[in-house]
Amino acid sequence: MGPQISLVLFAFLACSAFTKAADAVPNAMPVGTLYAYGQNISGLPLFYADGLALLGYGQPEDISEAVNVTFTSNTTATTLKSSPNNTAMATNWTQPLLYIDATAGSFTEAGFTSLTNTSYTTTGFSFWGRQLMWLGNSDDGSVGRSFWAAPRGKDGVWSLLWNSDNAASEIAVPIVLKRQPPPSLDKN
Ligand SMILES: *[C@@H]1O[C@H](CO)[C@@H](O)[C@H](O)[C@H]1NC(C)=O
Ligand SMILES: *[C@@H]1O[C@H](CO)[C@@H](O)[C@H](O)[C@H]1NC(C)=O
Ligand SMILES: *[C@@H]1O[C@H](CO)[C@@H](O)[C@H](O)[C@H]1NC(C)=O
Ligand SMILES: *[C@@H]1O[C@H](CO)[C@@H](O)[C@H](O)[C@H]1NC(C)=O
Ligand SMILES: *[C@@H]1O[C@H](CO)[C@@H](O)[C@H](O)[C@H]1NC(C)=O
Ligand SMILES: *[C@@H]1O[C@H](CO)[C@@H](O)[C@H](O)[C@H]1NC(C)=O
Repeated sequence: MGPQISLVLFAFLACSAFTKAADAVPNAMPVGTLYAYGQNISGLPLFYADGLALLGYGQPEDISEAVNVTFTSNTTATTLKSSPNNTAMATNWTQPLLYIDATAGSFTEAGFTSLTNTSYTTTGFSFWGRQLMWLGNSDDGSVGRSFWAAPRGKDGVWSLLWNSDNAASEIAVPIVLKRQPPPSLDKN
């Protein structure tokens, strides 16, 4: 086989392999990093911190494992699978799903889990434009907009909470999560 023919053959095989891979995952939608927006919260990234979902930059002192993540939405299962931005952490990463405690009356931290836990729900997540919604409960009068944030300490990092009833709080504020970085980060 001459070099030209093998080059053409290679290009053809590479092309068909690419088409196959794309066909195999029709229900996977890349989401990227999720960012929180609310009063005084203008696009803080959601990151993994010892199994919890936190909002902000850097590693809080009381956390041993913190890493930025990107998500992939399974549009059939309505789950959000996480992947670490740090390649060193990819080795032992189990691709945990974002969870919330969606039971009535809950005001609970959101996090990441690889296990099925009846206390938590990992399904019902979908996007309305760029905004993340939880549409798991038709009784939810607020149409799945119950993400809140509460400051954790003095380091500018916030906890992400699911406030099922959108109950008033002295410390927490309602936020939305978007697959859209703030303008300051959007330039790169
Ligand atoms: C937002 O920041 C302003 C100025 O620092 C402060 O007065 C206000 O209480 C903050 N609002 C919330 C909801 O944290
Ligand atoms: C996430 O990335 C931002 C830069 O985009 C960085 O400032 C921050 O420290 C990172 N967070 C973690 C937990 O590594
Ligand atoms: C998405 O979820 C469906 C239903 O649970 C599953 O059959 C499919 O393999 C998943 N797709 C991906 C890309 O993980
Ligand atoms: C994580 O990595 C993705 C892909 O490289 C990037 O678009 C995103 O900005 C990163 N997130 C943070 C918070 O740095
Ligand atoms: C992955 O887990 C193994 C076994 O627990 C451990 O020895 C190794 O250091 C871990 N690697 C990373 C990058 O954390
Ligand atoms: C679910 O998670 C909560 C909080 O981490 C824990 O207390 C509970 O034991 C877990 N339940 C199961 C069935 O694993």
